[in-house]
Amino acid sequence: MSAMPSVYYYDEHPPEADFYAEVIAGFKRRPRRIPPKFFYDERGSELFDAICRTEDYYPTRTEQALLQQHADAIAELIGERCLLIEPGSGNSEKVRLLLDILRPAAYLPMDISRDFLYQAADQVAQEYPWLEVHAACVDFTAPLSLPFCPPVSRKLIFFPGSSIGNFEPEQAETFLRNLIPVAGPQGSLLIGVDLKKDPAILNAAYNDREGVTAAFNLNLLHRIRRELAGELDPELFEHHAFYNDTLGRVEMHLVSQQAQQLKIDGQLFDFDKNESIHTESSYKYTVEEFIELAGRAGFTSRQVWTDPDQLFSLHYFDVTG
Ligand code: AVJ
Repeated sequence: MSAMPSVYYYDEHPPEADFYAEVIAGFKRRPRRIPPKFFYDERGSELFDAICRTEDYYPTRTEQALLQQHADAIAELIGERCLLIEPGSGNSEKVRLLLDILRPAAYLPMDISRDFLYQAADQVAQEYPWLEVHAACVDFTAPLSLPFCPPVSRKLIFFPGSSIGNFEPEQAETFLRNLIPVAGPQGSLLIGVDLKKDPAILNAAYNDREGVTAAFNLNLLHRIRRELAGELDPELFEHHAFYNDTLGRVEMHLVSQQAQQLKIDGQLFDFDKNESIHTESSYKYTVEEFIELAGRAGFTSRQVWTDPDQLFSLHYFDVTG
């Protein structure tokens, strides 16, 4: 007899991000900017998946190898029948590397895009019929509460992909601090963090030779045209990504190739030649820097795994007792 897959849905009805308002606000300030969360419309999510498969973008495959290699050790640390919580779970792809080995009592994916979340949760439940799945539609960057969450066992928060790198370091600390009540006093955090390294490797990873990252970045301008009826020519902008050594981050920009005027909903925006729109920061940390940051947020390092080339780190923290 096989168990029936069980999925529970929890919807906090988080307000959707307002692309129009944030683009207008971002174009009124200098330097101009568009927040990176807007990369991920349908086309952008496809392009991101394609980035992860390029030869130059090493983080995804390096982290996957670390998860595979160390799943047993992770299971040992967290113990049997934990609650596995994943903020920003997206397509729940990486968690599959852990489920069979961790054998959690329940998996709690949370994401802001409802349809995508529920689809991914249903799919996981079908593939792992023994697993209870609680899908929570929430804004995981806001302080979280989990009213449905069975309080019985230890919690492991899973935050892969170096998504933490998109936050300014201070925001990253606040984000981690907000996870403490979610994890609870016996809880733990498994988080993937991209490492500081030879800038040539970083510059290659964000300027892949297939041009996928450039298309991903430029898709923001196509979105403005498609969704906001923006009057602009994406071809008059160029993808520019580089490691900023002073700030310890890769920056992505869209650089205007000439002096030009953009029009969105009757509002005019003048761009100088070489003026840029800052679209993403991706912070990199040494192992020590990240342990310190997480320490300030209330986590104690238990274990760090890195690949032989020191490209990527996988950290296991306990909530500080
Ligand atoms: C998903 C934010 C971790 O910063 O490396 C990939 C996004 N941007 N290539 C990253 C991204 C350009 C990615 N994160």
